[in-house]
Amino acid sequence: MSLMRQSFGRLRGPDPDRVRPLNPNPDDHVCRGIQGTVRPDLGPPPKARVRCLDFFYGNRQVLFDNNLEVPSNRVTAIIGPSGCGKSTHLRAYNRIFELYPGRRARGEIMLDGVDVLAPGVDVIDLRRRVGMIFQQPTTFPMSVFDNVAFGLRLHASLRADALRFEVEQALGSVGLWDEVRDRLNAPAASLSGGQQQRLCVARALAIRPELLLMDEPTSAIDPIGTSRIEDLILGLKRRVTVVIVTHNLQQAARVSDFMAFFYEGRVVEFGPTSQVFHRPSEHLTEDYLSGRFG
Ligand SMILES: Nc1ncnc2c1ncn2[C@@H]1O[C@H](COP(=O)(O)OP(=O)(O)OP(=O)(O)O)[C@@H](O)[C@H]1O
Ligand SMILES: [Mg+2]
Repeated sequence: MSLMRQSFGRLRGPDPDRVRPLNPNPDDHVCRGIQGTVRPDLGPPPKARVRCLDFFYGNRQVLFDNNLEVPSNRVTAIIGPSGCGKSTHLRAYNRIFELYPGRRARGEIMLDGVDVLAPGVDVIDLRRRVGMIFQQPTTFPMSVFDNVAFGLRLHASLRADALRFEVEQALGSVGLWDEVRDRLNAPAASLSGGQQQRLCVARALAIRPELLLMDEPTSAIDPIGTSRIEDLILGLKRRVTVVIVTHNLQQAARVSDFMAFFYEGRVVEFGPTSQVFHRPSEHLTEDYLSGRFG
């Protein structure tokens, strides 16, 4: 299927005959387990395994039996129409949803064999291991240097010269060092939007996460900034596993190795990106990629 087809207007909802019914009773914890399109049948071992993940905002269930495996040192893209649960799914991996009352996840998210949703998990350490980049750059109201040093000061006790070295490395790894080396004490807010987003990536990378979650990281950034972030993502997988939510199908095609298509809180299809794009196994995926709805 040509990627150009996705530029067709998004006109209406999907063909009802192609949509599987949702669980009529959200209290039934129906779990498909490892059946279905959970894991691409090739590639590296999973960094994270999501099993039977349900999610609730209050009494309202918005994720249903999500199952997938996130391959190590690869980029996995999550696509799907607005409101299908992409951000909610992503925010379960580091339990950031728990910062807000009334939100509940049920199921399992195994990170290197440990269920991060289990009671007793050290969420501070979890959030060090699982970093997050949001749609809008979330720089802290402090200097460029202090933004990157923030997590290092929290998680490692480094001498001043070692701290400076780590900050320089992190800024270098996102291609920002040469742009900000003379402005390290300037407020982060004085950088451009694209630079701020790369600063956020540097801040996340400085504490050496194993998994980096990116929720539409380029949607607020101009094309040049977007291209730099995409190049950065491609280089990142040597050191980290990436899960990225994007509305931009071309971006998913450019940066991801694997792709999951979500619809109404469910994982409809998951596989190698080229396969999902060119030979989707579900009609619903094909309809979405063709621009028949969305
Ligand atoms: N704070 C909240 N309280 C109640 N329901 C919510 C809340 N946040 C999201 N939802 C609902 O959960 C569902 C999934 O939302 P989510 O934000 O995960 O979708 P999304 O796929 O990321 O959408 P988008 O592409 O627009 O960002 C939607 O029906 C949404 O209305
Ligand atoms: Mg979202």
